[in-house]
Amino acid sequence: MRTQVAIVGAGPAGLVLANVLLRAGVDIAVVERRSRAEVERRARAGLVEHRVVEYLRAHGLADRLLAEATRHGWCDFLCTGRVLRFDYGAQSGGVRHWVYPQQLLVRDLVADLRKAGHDPQFSLPATRVHVAADGSGPARVECPGLDIECDYVLGCDGPHGITPLALPPQAAPQGELDERYPYDWLTLLAEVDRGVPGVVYAVHEDGFAGVMPRTSRIARLYLEIPAGDATARWTAARVHERLRTRLAGAGAAVPRLGRIRETGVLRMRSSVRQTFQHGRLFLAGDAAHVLTPSGAKGMNLAVADAADLADALIRRYRYGDEAYLAGYTSRRLPEVLRTRDLAAGFLDLLHPQGQHPADRRAELARRLERLSELAEPGAAGAAFAHWYVGAGPDLPAPHTAAPRESTP
Ligand code: APR
Repeated sequence: MRTQVAIVGAGPAGLVLANVLLRAGVDIAVVERRSRAEVERRARAGLVEHRVVEYLRAHGLADRLLAEATRHGWCDFLCTGRVLRFDYGAQSGGVRHWVYPQQLLVRDLVADLRKAGHDPQFSLPATRVHVAADGSGPARVECPGLDIECDYVLGCDGPHGITPLALPPQAAPQGELDERYPYDWLTLLAEVDRGVPGVVYAVHEDGFAGVMPRTSRIARLYLEIPAGDATARWTAARVHERLRTRLAGAGAAVPRLGRIRETGVLRMRSSVRQTFQHGRLFLAGDAAHVLTPSGAKGMNLAVADAADLADALIRRYRYGDEAYLAGYTSRRLPEVLRTRDLAAGFLDLLHPQGQHPADRRAELARRLERLSELAEPGAAGAAFAHWYVGAGPDLPAPHTAAPRESTP
């Protein structure tokens, strides 16, 4: 099979790339190792940044999101019995998040591709990618029973995919680009008696707990646990008991929690590759960088990568602009590292450390001071709000001119 661009992975990064390229007249093929039902069911992120929604809207990819998502512009910090409301919508000048579960966005993006007659090939894993180091073509993606020859391969296959294996060893994350935290987060999907009205971050002596809105029946919850702890130790009764302790005093912000539908664990680490490209292979989203969920940036950064890469490929096909495409890593890496650092700072705020209870209490008091500073209108809160809600920088606008045929 021959195509211009082969995309490995049908998560948010791969599906945004596929849709935007297709609309610009670029020929694509998407392979995804899971079944369609699996990718459309996988509950993960849910807070969509303002600029990401603006991008999807501008490309005609946000109809259902705009109709069904709810808006969200504040969160509560719980600390030492105090509730501090951080009105980041107001502090960022009226910009808010959209609450829309990732699997619904994935479902919509798959439906858009199907409408255009370009179904992703589901249940088809890529097993190997061939790209020449000097950038000469064509590139090739091997799958069981299918060989795709293409101009470019886009590795959107997440943190455990196979496309990064085609990068040279020096592209692997190392040193300060790779960080492991001394705790993990238990991730839970719980039934609730009404929707969660807003995000709650509880900073508690016993450990962190977080509550995120998803739908009127379901909430996403996070619970700090010791690094490496087995999920089997976290029975439903123990989870409920710890949540009660850590969320005590949250008031109306936390609905009554019912049955826990899913329990998982996030090994808390961040890991950023030294480069996101090699010859005709370009990585986007989790294949290029994995961040912790603090700040809810994973899905948003995946779409931001996809937006930049789609723009660069369209310039390549329309105007023969090789240089802009070659600058992909140098444009994306600084933003990814900045996001990684801000998310790490936020994570630190949520996790007072300390061996002894007295140390932890002192740390908690310091956290309370810093959280109060964020919550009160001022420069610190405004800067954080701008980043947290994704008020900018804007993602690339659609190209309007007709496509020109060109084969690199
Ligand atoms: N062949 C084909 N598909 C593959 C292969 C393979 N060898 N390996 C993995 N995949 C698929 C996975 O099944 C998955 O559907 O690639 C897709 C990767 O999707 P995501 O993991 O959602 O990654 P991405 O699109 O980068 O979005 C990342 O979303 O939920 C957030 O925080 C999360 O940061 C993450 C973000």
